[in-house]
Amino acid sequence: MDAVPLPEGELGRPEPLTEYEVASYVVAAAVWAPSVHNTQPWRFTARGQQISLCADAERQLRVADPDGREMMISCGAALFTARLALRSLGYLPEICLLPDPGQPLLVARVSWQRRVACSEFEQQLFGQVRQRRTHRGGFDLVPLPPGLLAALREGAARYRAMLRLIADDGRRAALAAAVETAEQEQQLDSERVAELARWAPAPGSARADGVPPTSYPARAEHTDPEFPGRDFAHGRGWGLPPLSSAPPFRSAGVAALLTTARDRPADWINAGQALQRILLTASTRGIAAALHTQPLELGWLRDVIQTRLSDGAYPQMVLRFGAVIQAAASVRRLPEDVLPESGSEDTTRNPQGPPTP
Ligand SMILES: Cc1cc2nc3c(=O)[nH]c(=O)nc-3n(C[C@H](O)[C@H](O)[C@H](O)COP(=O)(O)O)c2cc1C
Repeated sequence: MDAVPLPEGELGRPEPLTEYEVASYVVAAAVWAPSVHNTQPWRFTARGQQISLCADAERQLRVADPDGREMMISCGAALFTARLALRSLGYLPEICLLPDPGQPLLVARVSWQRRVACSEFEQQLFGQVRQRRTHRGGFDLVPLPPGLLAALREGAARYRAMLRLIADDGRRAALAAAVETAEQEQQLDSERVAELARWAPAPGSARADGVPPTSYPARAEHTDPEFPGRDFAHGRGWGLPPLSSAPPFRSAGVAALLTTARDRPADWINAGQALQRILLTASTRGIAAALHTQPLELGWLRDVIQTRLSDGAYPQMVLRFGAVIQAAASVRRLPEDVLPESGSEDTTRNPQGPPTP
């Protein structure tokens, strides 16, 4: 192998890998991408030196995400991770985004042939794929490492997305108010509450998807301004107990919006690629991110954010960044559940069947 050695604990054997082994290795990494409510709305098929990534419409949030925007952002994050996994093997991925207008769920075809040694930065990003966790709460009162925000902005720009810091106190308060308003409105909407409950498994559940109680705090942490998290536990007392070392005062962190100039499926996929690059880059510097998409799921609030806080660009994600000791743990389906050993690009059905609560 002329590039990098296989990361430890992955396939655990030296090259040469068969085409299917490369595909399995790539999918084993891609499943660790973030996805809305951990729906993992993706399926893969491998043929020769090519993987197809399809959105799994059975896992789309019909109430919260009727257009599939968040589903496509999630698939974009998986695509970036697949790309990175190929780089970790020293392959130069070739990506064809939305290659077939007749198959809108076919997100991308990813192929590999040429080789270029993996850079140290790519290796560092790849090293965070399984370590990174979504944070839900406040952050320590420490500044972000110097140069990090510039690196995050540069990473977003590579995917034609923009990371806009909401630094000014008034705008930050306005963004926090949008999150709070959305959260309150959504808690009063029985269809939304029921949909969220379907993706919030009980403690001890054997499910390999959804947001487990090991990934959110049992008691909401308060910050100023307040950016309320989703109500996954819904009054059932689920969630992680507070860490004894947690300081009493938490910061809301650095608030930001990830935006795109247009709002088509390709923009959503690119926002997802930018998102995963941002999250992994932050993670290499010991910085976690909290994600809030509640206000972007209500058309009128998304419009307000677009006009008041993002200069007319389309908001795709609300983020907060900061340092924190994390105890959160998440779950994923096995790679073999999303990559059949042989298969065609079937973008219409879900071979696993719909998820059971
Ligand atoms: C499009 C998108 C929207 C998300 N929205 C939220 C959100 O509003 N609140 C939240 O706590 N997490 C949100 N997340 C994070 C997911 O819940 C998280 O990625 C998933 O549970 C897997 O956990 P992990 O990121 O720790 O691996 C979002 C992720 C994506 C990709």
